[in-house]
Amino acid sequence: MKVLLIGGGAREHAIASALKRGGAELYSFMSCKNPGIMRISEKYKIAKESEIEKIVEFAKENNVDFAIAGPELPLSLGVADALEEAGIPCVGPKKELAKIEASKAFARELMDKYKIDGLVKYGVFYDYKEAWNFIEELGEVAVKPIGLTGGKGVKIVGEQLKDIDEAKAYAKEVIEKKIGGFAGVVIEERVLGEEFTAQVFVDGKNIVPMPAVQDFKRAYEGDKGHNTGGMGSYSCSTHLLPFLTKKDYEKAVEIAKKAVEALKKETGLEYKGILYAQCMLSDEVKLIEFNCRFGDPEAMNVLTILKSNFVEICEDIIDGNLKNAEFEKKATVCKYIAPVGYGLKPKANAEITVNEEDIEKSGAVLYYAAVNAEDGKLYTTTSRTLAVVGVAKSLKEAEEIAESATKHVKGEDIYHRSDIGKEELIKKKIERIMKIRGIKDASYFSLGC
Ligand code: AMP
Ligand code: GLY
Repeated sequence: MKVLLIGGGAREHAIASALKRGGAELYSFMSCKNPGIMRISEKYKIAKESEIEKIVEFAKENNVDFAIAGPELPLSLGVADALEEAGIPCVGPKKELAKIEASKAFARELMDKYKIDGLVKYGVFYDYKEAWNFIEELGEVAVKPIGLTGGKGVKIVGEQLKDIDEAKAYAKEVIEKKIGGFAGVVIEERVLGEEFTAQVFVDGKNIVPMPAVQDFKRAYEGDKGHNTGGMGSYSCSTHLLPFLTKKDYEKAVEIAKKAVEALKKETGLEYKGILYAQCMLSDEVKLIEFNCRFGDPEAMNVLTILKSNFVEICEDIIDGNLKNAEFEKKATVCKYIAPVGYGLKPKANAEITVNEEDIEKSGAVLYYAAVNAEDGKLYTTTSRTLAVVGVAKSLKEAEEIAESATKHVKGEDIYHRSDIGKEELIKKKIERIMKIRGIKDASYFSLGC
C-alpha cells in the first residue's frame, strides 16, 4: 500500500511509524524536515500543509492508494474533498465535517440541535453587547474564538482572565479583531473537573474507541503557566485513567458516536477518520471540544501500543468496514521536549543533539516533532521539538522510562516537564474528583493503573 501522510510533527511521526509497521510505503508531505519521518519515507515533499493543490499533485505523482491527514488545517481547508475528486480516498473528514473542529459555534449548535449529552450552557454572539449580557448572566465563563487558533485562543475566568470585566474585554477583542477568523465569539459556562481525551476511529457509521488519555496543556511543572499545544500525556494499562470509570469513558465514546450520527443528518456526509472528544469529568461528563483528527500528544500514547495493523484499520475506515482495534494492555507516558519559551516567545533555531542509541537502550520510543535536520545537525523551531514515550506494565515504570530518555537529548534552550505521569500529580487529580463527586473512599481509584 502506498500511503500519503500529511503533516510533520511528532503525532505524524507516530502515524508514520504505525503505517510502516503495517507494511505501508510512505509518501510524506510536511512543512519541516522531520528526520524521523524523512528516514522512513520513500519520498517526501517540504511545503506548507495548507497548500492543498500541491498535496493533491504530490499524491497523484506518486500514485498513492490513500492519504491520511495528521493536522486539522488541511482538513479544514478541504484536503479530503480535493483528494477524493482526484480519486484518492482520505482518512480524515471532508471540509463540511471538519467544521466540528474548525467552528466551535457549529460544534455547539450541532450538539444542541441533535440533543447530544455533555453540552454546557453556551451562546454564540456576533454583537459584543449581547455577549456581555450573557457573560454577566453566567459569571464564570470560557471565552472562545469560533475558528482555529492552534489551541491558544480560549481564555477562562479564574485562569487566564482575572474577572468578568476581563472576560468582557476579551470577548469584544475577539469579535473586533476577528481572532480565529470570525467576527464572533462563543461564551460558555466554566466547567470544573479533570480533563480527559477520548479518541475514536470512525468509518462513517461504526466507531471503535482507543484507550483514554490525559494531556497536560500547561507549560510548567505542577500544571502552572500558560496553555500550550500539550507538554505530554499518559494512558493506563486498563485503557481508563486513575480517576475515570468505565461508565464515564463509555459516556464520552457515546457522545462521539452521537456526533458522528448528527453530522450525517446535518450534512448528508459520512465522517471517515479519527474523531477526538476533549471531555471534562465533573459531576458528569461534559464535552469541551471536538477535534477532527488524532490528538497531539495523545496519538503517541495510543499508536505506540496499537497491536492491530494500522494500514488495515485505515482501509477499513475507507471501506466502511471497521471492526475493532486492539491495544496492548500497557501504560504509556509521553514527554515533550520543547524550546524554552514555547507558547509565548520560543527560542528557536538552537542546535540540539539527540543520542538515539541511548534513547533506544532506555527502552523509550522517540518521535521527532518540529525540528529541522540540516547537514547532519538538528535545529529547534518555534514549536515542540521531540517526544519520548515510555511503555510499561505500570504507569510508574512508563514514567521512569520516559524521564530517563529525556537525558539523552541535549541543548541549552530546551526543556520538558518532569512531573508528567508522576504519582504526585495524579494523586492531586484523584483528590479533585473525590471532592467534586463527594467520594470518600480513595480505594475507588486505581492509582498506578
Ligand atoms: P479548547 O481549545 O476548546 O480545547 O479549550 C482549551 C482549554 O480550555 C481546554 O483544554 C480546557 O482546559 C479549557 N476549557 C475550554 N472550555 C472550557 C469550559 N467550558 N470550562 C472550563 N474549561 C474550559
Ligand atoms: N492535545 C490537544 C490537541 O491535540 O488538540
